[in-house]
Amino acid sequence: MPAKPLPTAELHLHIEGTLEPELAFALAERNGVTLPYATTDELRRAYSFSDLQSFLDLYYALMAVLRTEDDFAELADGYLARAAAQGVRHAEIFFDPQAHTARGVPIGVVIEGLGRALDRSEERHGISTRLIMCFLRDESAESALETFEAARPHLRRIHGVGLDSAEVGNPPSKFREVFQRAAEAGLHRVAHAGEEGPAEYITEALDVLGVERIDHGLRCLEDAALVERLARERVPLTVCPLSNVRLRCVDTLAEHPLPKMIDAGLLVTVNSDDPAYFGGYVADNFGAVKDALGLDHETLRMLAANSFKAAFLDEQTRAGYLAEVAAHRFG
Ligand code: ADE
Ligand code: ZN
Repeated sequence: MPAKPLPTAELHLHIEGTLEPELAFALAERNGVTLPYATTDELRRAYSFSDLQSFLDLYYALMAVLRTEDDFAELADGYLARAAAQGVRHAEIFFDPQAHTARGVPIGVVIEGLGRALDRSEERHGISTRLIMCFLRDESAESALETFEAARPHLRRIHGVGLDSAEVGNPPSKFREVFQRAAEAGLHRVAHAGEEGPAEYITEALDVLGVERIDHGLRCLEDAALVERLARERVPLTVCPLSNVRLRCVDTLAEHPLPKMIDAGLLVTVNSDDPAYFGGYVADNFGAVKDALGLDHETLRMLAANSFKAAFLDEQTRAGYLAEVAAHRFG
């Protein structure tokens, strides 16, 4: 019997990045959208990226197939089924509303479609969920504010806000006001920082936006005082190893700074980012770092425990998941 996967929380996952080519073609057919690729194989061959922007161009283009509540529900349900098979017990899921409203899809269609799949997740897949609404940092601050106001009628479904898309030249401080509004509405706050952008963006995300977690955060290693602060304040960093290699933030997995981050006492977690594009879901990321970096079982267990420590969970639920991690037997 194959070993059961290590129980984990996935904290850095863009739902649009789980759009597998097979579903993209099925939705294109259903919605009368023409894709500039003849087959799923041809589409997969386009997944060769030189940097974040080259990925984002394809990522946003393929979203053209997502149009109805059913489409968003099917996308999320498909992800949750694959995540469950990889040991995910809790998922905090990002979505990019502006990438859909810009194409004429109402924000309510996006949120209620995703919400429908999330409502059934515990029962169908044994995964508890949270939804985190991200603002596109290469769009204006006004657009982020308009998006937040448009989402207000749906805030019961939203647990937090985040910041993603093209990082360099779009510092966190640009979004001070919308993050302030989110805080006033009682939402959690996270932000991508230090993926391609400089270490100062991490400091700004903490000090100006008041974020509780940093997504990626790799470039903190360029600032020793910042590393010391992140370790002391126990700020979680949601690291995505396969993504970092595919987007050329890191040359090879064997050179990934994850061990250095662990040694520095940082609260790091392992996540999949955009698994349909980067070659794997959470357990694939764990397996890849285990093999490439020679991580032992106790380090893998610690990374899994970190994911639940960093999750937006009540303490009783967190304790239950941590007990599952402690009881896990590696095959
Ligand atoms: N949107 C989807 N994936 C992303 C990433 N890795 N960085 C920034 N924005 C993203
Ligand atoms: Zn991301």
